[in-house]
Amino acid sequence: MALPAQRLNVARKLIDEVALQNRIVELGHAITRDYADVDELVLIGILKGSFVFLGDLTRQIAIPHTIEFLQVSSYGVGRRESSGTINLKLDIHTDLTDKHVLVIEDIIDSGNTLNFIIQHLKSYSPSDIKICTLLDKPMRRKVQMDADYVGFTIPDKFVVGYGIDADEQFRHLPYIASVMH
Ligand code: IMP
Ligand code: MG
Repeated sequence: MALPAQRLNVARKLIDEVALQNRIVELGHAITRDYADVDELVLIGILKGSFVFLGDLTRQIAIPHTIEFLQVSSYGVGRRESSGTINLKLDIHTDLTDKHVLVIEDIIDSGNTLNFIIQHLKSYSPSDIKICTLLDKPMRRKVQMDADYVGFTIPDKFVVGYGIDADEQFRHLPYIASVMH
């Protein structure tokens, strides 16, 4: 169903700025601790939704790491669900062989997007692949997908802000808001 962005109502703050930053400090500490003995850690941010989260998270990780970006097809204007068919729009251009990959995602919904991304990244023979997602909507899963690091588990609501969009709008909001439509 097509929903022009200007007709969306930003209903209410779900997660405010302070809660986001506090949780990201905790995630950064956990990642720093878990990867302390690892030589090569690569964070792979999934564009576009993860860019704000990744920017804050990287500054809370106190061990050396590099950053790459991967982009897959979004659901398209007016859609509120990802399809089972995901397309690669931007690939990484670095050697991942034997490196430790941590995928940074904005939100897991059906699990289809990350399922595709994990299968794709496996073809590069990294040492291991883990997932860090800011938000998780576990009740919406269509394929099994468990993140290793989850910022917040949220109810079945469509959310925007802090990098996450509705038809490319609202990424600039410094908090997570739920949207009514
Ligand atoms: P999945 O493939 O269904 O798991 O959806 C994952 C992708 O859909 C995320 O990377 C988001 O870009 C997008 N997405 C899922 N839920 C929401 C939401 O509530 N608001 C905005 N985008 C969402
Ligand atoms: Mg999106």
